[in-house]
Amino acid sequence: MIGKVKAHTNIALVKYWGKKDSGLIIPYTDSLSLTLDEFYTTTAVEFSDDLEHDEFKIDGNPVNEKNFVKLTNFMSHIRDLSGVTQYASVSSKNHVPISAGLASSASAFAALAAAGAKAAGLDLTRQELSRVARRGSGSATRSIFGGLVEWHRGYDDVSSFAEPIQEKLDFGLEMIAILLDTNIKKVSSRSGMQSVVATSPYYASWIDVVQNDMGLMKEAIKNKDINRIGKIAELNAMRMHALNMSAEPSFTYFNSETLKTIELIHDLRNQGINCYYTLDAGPNVKVIYDRKNRDRILKALQIEFKRDQLVVAHPGPGIEYIDC
Ligand code: PMV
Repeated sequence: MIGKVKAHTNIALVKYWGKKDSGLIIPYTDSLSLTLDEFYTTTAVEFSDDLEHDEFKIDGNPVNEKNFVKLTNFMSHIRDLSGVTQYASVSSKNHVPISAGLASSASAFAALAAAGAKAAGLDLTRQELSRVARRGSGSATRSIFGGLVEWHRGYDDVSSFAEPIQEKLDFGLEMIAILLDTNIKKVSSRSGMQSVVATSPYYASWIDVVQNDMGLMKEAIKNKDINRIGKIAELNAMRMHALNMSAEPSFTYFNSETLKTIELIHDLRNQGINCYYTLDAGPNVKVIYDRKNRDRILKALQIEFKRDQLVVAHPGPGIEYIDC
């Protein structure tokens, strides 16, 4: 049987940044994200007697040794769950700039978990799929679902899973991704968060910050208060990036364009245009706003950036099975 699935990326409004268990990917904190329609991965998986090892193709290219090991271990978990003993042929197509802090791993592992499970004949709930996806990449846990999603940190494999807060949004939350640099990032999120957990003197405070932000963010979502959502997300992102600067050795995902863009968002706010920003493990900025302000924000951004650097993204759906 072939399993084919489309999964979308998500951007965290309250970030996950640190693993308590790096094998199972159990995080230190809860997190909360918005799944986006514009960036996605489509993955097809087929197990076969003819293969002597797993085969992976991403955008038509075979994967390197490091990614092969990671992916074949991931497939072995699906084999363990299902009892399938064959190797798999996996082909994946990304509609996301890879490793540029646009969470390509989120859509990739969500799609692989669901397509792999289907191909192996497993009938898993979406909550169970979120646990499988989690083993590939933390943020993938949330990409199983659409809209606003919460990942409960839990304390073991069973208790650490994602759950939707609101899969179809009934208010105008949107994001514009500003693509400043789509090259592979220098510090992977895995090593970035590992370094922060091990060396930042502020890590214990971060755990408190996130716990507090989760409560505030859920309240703001309940009230459909986009400005409040933006404010909380922006501060949460800056506190995450402050951890990186406080690590030893210190590092940052920001570049000079990032700082200029942040200043530009502040300028827009000072002009009375409500918009906020967030950043992940890369230099690209995502602007958070109410869709009623989209035209004004786009107009202002188009003065500074080329059209193809600006991607308007709306809330997106959870995983979708594609008939083969
Ligand atoms: O999914 P990972 O393990 O590569 O980590 C991603 C971490 C952030 O994108 C920076 C934050 C998040 O919660 O998605």
